[in-house]
Amino acid sequence: PETITIQELANRMSERGVDVIRLLMRQGQMHKITDVIDADTAQLIAEELGHTVRRVAESDVEEGLFSADDVDEVKLPRPPVVTIMGHVDHGKTSLLDALRKTTVVSGEAGGITQHIGAYQVTSPLGGKITIIDTPGHAAFTSMRARGAKVTDIVVLVVAADDGVMPQTIEAIDHARAAGVPLIVAINKIDKPSADPQRVRNELLRHEVVVESMGGETLEFEVSAKAGTNLDKLLEGLQLQSEILDLRANPDRSAEGNVIEAKLDRGRGPVATVLVDRGTLRVGDIVVAGCEWGRVRALVADNGSQIKEAGPSVPAEVLGFNGTPEAGDRVAVVENEARAREITDFRTRQRREKLAARGAGAGRSLADMMR
Ligand code: GTP
Ligand code: MG
Repeated sequence: PETITIQELANRMSERGVDVIRLLMRQGQMHKITDVIDADTAQLIAEELGHTVRRVAESDVEEGLFSADDVDEVKLPRPPVVTIMGHVDHGKTSLLDALRKTTVVSGEAGGITQHIGAYQVTSPLGGKITIIDTPGHAAFTSMRARGAKVTDIVVLVVAADDGVMPQTIEAIDHARAAGVPLIVAINKIDKPSADPQRVRNELLRHEVVVESMGGETLEFEVSAKAGTNLDKLLEGLQLQSEILDLRANPDRSAEGNVIEAKLDRGRGPVATVLVDRGTLRVGDIVVAGCEWGRVRALVADNGSQIKEAGPSVPAEVLGFNGTPEAGDRVAVVENEARAREITDFRTRQRREKLAARGAGAGRSLADMMR
């Protein structure tokens, strides 16, 4: 049964707790401010105080959307999801680019990454590795924080000619907060001014102890430009992921995260989705945040159309009715009615939250019973 504390009820009505307690007392109920009352009682009180009550049970709407974790027996090994982080201009995109052997950097406005892209590469040992590039510009800090949530391993790129900088430290903190192992890529070692030992010493000051200094953090001296040691870095990533023993059940309806989303002139809303369990298929009905749609097409990182995307396989999803937001959780639902119910509810909830903020603290009772 739904309940609410008297304090919370009073807060949501912008009423004083004592007035709620007095009303309850008049009805023969003795309560302290911290007591829990049931939803029916709360509604009576609210109406008596002149508030309009709409009872919305989030549990009714969101129930079963994201199911419990799968049992180990049905889980199969999945590729690691690796996020490349580091200070501005230390070579994140160049590194990813070199790993993919394509040219993303030259096509970008001003050479600054404006979005999170996700791609899959193959290590020399044969394993697949999913890599996410995150923007290095300070303005994109929050987006990067989201990047860390979907990641298994962080590659910390530090330019050997520049050393540890504010966003290097930020990336270390993100990885720590997410409980994700770091692999250090000391980049730009082709430069005459490169000083990799200085990078190691500076990392030590932030309690990142690399292998050559007696620690456990794998480190590689690389050059994205010259292509130095990139195979070693990929091998290191695969070995690290084998230690983590990453698994997911591919044989269930898909759940995942929106890595980026945009409104494309020709194709409509396009969301880059990274599935973390299950398999996403063309024809599936998906919800993400306040948006839903029927998957019209799935596009792989190389631009080819695919029929399905399993765990750790990044894919662009076409068919959303609106553009979801980066960081939105994605789930497949059984039918359009269900998708509408969920997204209508969320849209209403968002609108009411905004209205409540606009109208002053707690005037809206809309989500009183959550
Ligand atoms: P933001 O996305 O803006 O944070 O930058 P980024 O970290 O992705 O750096 P990016 O890959 O755009 O590289 C920044 C500059 O460093 C570019 O001019 C690259 O050509 C250069 N660069 C990257 N890697 C190397 C390298 O290994 N050696 C040398 N010499 N230059 C490099
Ligand atoms: Mg970049």
